[in-house]
Amino acid sequence: MQLWYLKQKLFKIYHRLSKSTFCLYRPPTIHIEPTARCNMACFKCERNYGAKGYVQSAGFMPEEIFAKTFPFIKTAYSINLSGFGEPFLHPQYLDMIAKTRELNNKAEINIYTNGTLLDAVRSEGLVKNRVNVLHVSLDGATNATNQMTRQGNVEEIFDKIKLLNEIKRKKDSQYPRIRFNFGFNNENIKELPQLVGIAQSLKVAAIDLIQLHCFSESMKKLFLDTAALVASLEYQQAARQARQSNVQIVTPQPSSGCLDPFKMLMISWEGFVMPCYMEEHIVGNLQHESLEEIWNNEKIRNLRRALLYGQGRETCRLCNKLDDSNNYQTLPRSTNSRFYSDRHH
Ligand SMILES: C[S@@+](CC[C@H](N)C(=O)[O-])C[C@H]1O[C@@H](n2cnc3c(N)ncnc32)[C@H](O)[C@@H]1O
Ligand code: SF4
Repeated sequence: MQLWYLKQKLFKIYHRLSKSTFCLYRPPTIHIEPTARCNMACFKCERNYGAKGYVQSAGFMPEEIFAKTFPFIKTAYSINLSGFGEPFLHPQYLDMIAKTRELNNKAEINIYTNGTLLDAVRSEGLVKNRVNVLHVSLDGATNATNQMTRQGNVEEIFDKIKLLNEIKRKKDSQYPRIRFNFGFNNENIKELPQLVGIAQSLKVAAIDLIQLHCFSESMKKLFLDTAALVASLEYQQAARQARQSNVQIVTPQPSSGCLDPFKMLMISWEGFVMPCYMEEHIVGNLQHESLEEIWNNEKIRNLRRALLYGQGRETCRLCNKLDDSNNYQTLPRSTNSRFYSDRHH
């Protein structure tokens, strides 16, 4: 049994035995979204399937909202400074990274990016503030394949990674480690072996394989499940190559249930607070409340209760974490999500 699975089980037993939906600790993981705006409009991205008005009017996290996250930044173990949208578009993004590091010297800082805006100044900021991991998203080793589901020129992204590597070398820093975030599908797995070679040459530590969430019928045609991925010859060839190089391939793990609302909070650029990756589960708003008030409020405790006592499938029916049938792909999204409603919450 894997360690993470055992830890998850022990955690659940503790909360079941104590019947506690009140968390005395603060969330070990927080996600702070600088913006939902993006310089790309990728075919597969959820941003493009919601209410048009929302995405067009998406802005940047204001300083006052960011300041309200400070108490929880100080106590987190893992801080993800990205969300929907491209984080490097935020005009004060490097200041936000520096402030996060100043407030918490030990936490692991993660960033997800499309990689297109990396330049010397930004790369130096990442190195200087010891950002631990930069996750660069791309869905192919060539432009033709990448652009089936994403936008962006992979050759240019590879050049930007080379520049970052050069700055890391000059500053004698191992940070940030770089990982590829590869959303696999039945068209792009043919390029997985090639991508392992590229990762090795660019000193990319790992390729994280991410299953596609489908928001349209044409996306479903590209869908490949993890079992089919692992059984494919291309995956096996890539895994063999990865074993011979220093590149790790990380494959999605079977779901062991979900306890995210006991462990994490996501704060959107406009201040919505969610206890997991589901946009529908808004439990508070930093424009009117503090994180301390939200972390154990009735809404979040109801969600914890549902997960603890087996009603999670109903409460979280739009999420694929509790449901191996991939419901996530087929059900219409709820207008409770900021993406699917033009009304202001
Ligand atoms: C929404 S993006 C935001 C950060 C940045 N703009 C980027 O592209 O990495 C975060 C991650 O979600 C992934 N993603 C977008 N649409 C997806 C989908 N339909 N299924 C699975 N992952 C998706 C992207 O590939 C990316 O790795
Ligand atoms: S770059 Fe990222 S946020 Fe932007 S459209 Fe593509 S997947 Fe979505």
